[in-house]
Amino acid sequence: MNLAFFASGSGSNFEAVAKRCQSGEIAASASVVICNVPGAEVFHRAERLTIPCYLVQREDFREGKDFAARLLEILRSYQIDLILLAGYLRKLPGAVVRAFPNRVLNIHPALLPAFGGKGMYGRRVHEAVLAARCRTTGVTVHLVDEEYDRGPTVVQRTVEVQEGDTPETLAARVLEVEHQIYGDVVKLFVQNRVRFEEGRVRILE
Ligand code: GRF
Repeated sequence: MNLAFFASGSGSNFEAVAKRCQSGEIAASASVVICNVPGAEVFHRAERLTIPCYLVQREDFREGKDFAARLLEILRSYQIDLILLAGYLRKLPGAVVRAFPNRVLNIHPALLPAFGGKGMYGRRVHEAVLAARCRTTGVTVHLVDEEYDRGPTVVQRTVEVQEGDTPETLAARVLEVEHQIYGDVVKLFVQNRVRFEEGRVRILE
């Protein structure tokens, strides 16, 4: 199974999954990264892992359809089976989502549908969780449809909010869980244990 990652920033989730693929623990190939931010840290991580990382920016294309066509051209050239959005701060074009039905995943640092939606990313998510005095937050991996942070949940895992947490300490603990869970979900796909039934995801035991 060939994986493509879309990232806009650090790319630590990409690295965590890619390392587990390269070590043979996950029987998949981390084949390519697509990034929309020049100089983002994910380029350095990809280089260290010798995985190609392409800069593809919407603003370099006159038409949205040409942008989507370029993305699809890259994805097809690497024979991609599964797309992992990993801190990609742009909406994936509908044509790409439609070309990979039930094959586009996103990871979100909270328990959706709480603390999701447009503008809810990075530090803001953890600030909102703390402001709401939640005792529990977590991580959601979900299928991507054409909206932000929507689409059926594949897996969720909880993280306790601790006394004295700041957005940074909470983000760090959540990120550790993200690094584990995203690869675990890829494994479920590799093992063909993910089923889609009437808009829901079922994981086979
Ligand atoms: C993660 O918190 C992820 O849940 C969210 O964006 C962040 C990306 O972090 N979608 P990184 O770039 O993988 O380090």
